[in-house]
Amino acid sequence: MAEMTAFTPTPETTRQLRDAYGRFATGVCIVTTHTPSGPIGMTANSFTSVSLDPPLVLWCPGKTSARTPHFTAASHFAIHVLCDEQAQIAKDFAKDGRAFSGIEITDGEGDVPLIANCAARFECETRQIHEAGDHLIQVGKVLRAMTSDKAPLIFCNGGFGDFSTG
Ligand SMILES: Cc1cc2nc3c(=O)[nH]c(=O)nc-3n(C[C@H](O)[C@H](O)[C@H](O)COP(=O)(O)O)c2cc1C
Repeated sequence: MAEMTAFTPTPETTRQLRDAYGRFATGVCIVTTHTPSGPIGMTANSFTSVSLDPPLVLWCPGKTSARTPHFTAASHFAIHVLCDEQAQIAKDFAKDGRAFSGIEITDGEGDVPLIANCAARFECETRQIHEAGDHLIQVGKVLRAMTSDKAPLIFCNGGFGDFSTG
């Protein structure tokens, strides 16, 4: 039988809790918005589709990120679901919110920068922001959606990979 490790979350087990969260395989997104000082983006795997009617999605910006106030102040933002060829931009936007050089962008709803060639994209209007510990939950109404047949980029156990249905 596979080995199981149980623990109670405490300040001493933060690393283990982070690793346990990381066992949940997710897609990878770049969330972008417009700021007075230009476009900004953040790599995020906290994206979740929430509601079809009305069309609502969420993501969770961390309170300690200097980029978060730009997103929570924004009337509009865009979620880009990355394809398996976009691992490098996921790494770039994890380090630098202004990592747009060499990336083709167009203006979307609310002047939000849109990145091309994603697996899917959701242009959103901010509806609610909820408190959630060291993160916030930003809920957006989807104004426009785009989808493609590109294979999604996957994040699991701290690493990037790809996925195909058998
Ligand atoms: C795969 C992946 C997923 C991430 N998901 C989130 C997320 O959902 N929310 C978040 O606040 N930061 C997330 N981050 C971290 C941010 O991309 C970024 O590294 C962090 O906000 C540090 O930003 P700062 O330089 O503004 O402090 C993720 C990073 C990676 C590599």
